[in-house]
Amino acid sequence: MKKIAVFVSGGGTNLQALIDAQGKTLLSGKITLVVANNADAYALQRAKKAGIATTVVLKKECGSQAAFEEKLKQVLTEHGIDIIVLAGFMTILTEGFTSAYPRRILNVHPSLIPSFCGEGFYGLRVHEAALSYGVKVTGATVHFVNEIPDGGEIIAQKAVEILPGDTPEILQRRVMEQAEWVLLPQAAEKVCAELI
Ligand code: GAR
Repeated sequence: MKKIAVFVSGGGTNLQALIDAQGKTLLSGKITLVVANNADAYALQRAKKAGIATTVVLKKECGSQAAFEEKLKQVLTEHGIDIIVLAGFMTILTEGFTSAYPRRILNVHPSLIPSFCGEGFYGLRVHEAALSYGVKVTGATVHFVNEIPDGGEIIAQKAVEILPGDTPEILQRRVMEQAEWVLLPQAAEKVCAELI
């Protein structure tokens, strides 16, 4: 069974979708560890409730990006992690980290890449950008993570309609419900199955 670490920064609804998929045996890998870069992330409560080990790694305590990434790698090695899922992890990882796990790091992004992605596009900002551009369709993408922000190979995408009267918050919720929470567990399962 492949061991999965989920990296989080906030609410953790995508982590919850992974936990729920595991409960329904739709995810063959085992969510072994949840890593947060923010001690207040509600995702940590979700992990604890599900009996999953948690750890908090703070960049400012590590002193540098390189030391932060070394600490992350150390924690992953200690837990024997095979696959890393970035589920609302709001910090960029550089090549020093990504090159250690080729095709083993997944990220969920709340738009149809290559639209509204890359540095500075995260969380609600992505939906604000889609609405201000005036696109009529958006969605979510799950992709492998490499050294280019949101630039790794695409694993899965799902389109979501933009409706009149949408606010960034309303659109974010629809993209999560219709795309992210469906795609992320499916993509994680695909990667687990391919590694076995
Ligand atoms: C999700 O919409 C996720 O796609 C996005 O942050 C939200 C986290 O929500 N991630 C990014 O924007 C990464 N570039 P969650 O904590 O409830 O899963």
